[in-house]
Amino acid sequence: MVSQRNCLILLCALGMSAAQAGDELELRKQAAAAATKSLVQQLGGALKKEMEAGGPAQAIGVCRDLAPKIAGDLSRDNGWRVTRVGTRVRNPMLGTPDAWEQQVLKDFQVRAAGGEAVADMSFSTVVEEPDGRYFRFMKAIPVQAACLNCHGPAEKIATGVQEQLASHYPMDRAVGYREGELRGAVSIKQPMDLPLKAN
Ligand code: HEC
Repeated sequence: MVSQRNCLILLCALGMSAAQAGDELELRKQAAAAATKSLVQQLGGALKKEMEAGGPAQAIGVCRDLAPKIAGDLSRDNGWRVTRVGTRVRNPMLGTPDAWEQQVLKDFQVRAAGGEAVADMSFSTVVEEPDGRYFRFMKAIPVQAACLNCHGPAEKIATGVQEQLASHYPMDRAVGYREGELRGAVSIKQPMDLPLKAN
């Protein structure tokens, strides 16, 4: 992993001033934070609406279909990879953290154990990979009361919901969470070669 500081030094060596490099990272962070906010708000709104209309059994579709769709749209619109990853995962195909994401989730857990509020945590840095350099950003997702309907301890999850989860997600490990706990993160990966979209 390349630390932010090393990266700045690298950019300086390439002829870019530290101020310019710092500005670019700040702008990338702001763009990632804005996309995260949009994802969380769209999802939260849809989840609330469906929960009120038909309860958690009906709201499963929001998490199953809408969440990957919104993340996919944000990815395509920006030329990034936008995903949700979990500390324990329901959908291993989409929600499994890579090595870098696992490390950041671990760091978030250490910070939480030290008393920091999960809702306020984020982390970003530039990483060097064989095929190029990437700006990586993660924003922690805390478990809220409404999430317990589908991610809480078994006694909080209605039988109908348990049945649906079991049939769609035979590998489901994303249960047993408590309110306030770290559930996972929104993770955004931006190729540094691709300039940010002008808004
Ligand atoms: C109505 C049931 C339901 C509710 C309520 C719900 N989820 Fe989920 N959640 C799911 C399902 C189903 C998936 C699997 C989505 C998929 O197939 O990609 C999922 C996946 C996730 C993932 C992706 C990682 C993984 O385990 O696959 C995160 C992160 C997540 N949920 C967080 C939350 C948070 C935070 C809340 C509360 C704000 C919440 N969920 C509320 C059903 C629910």
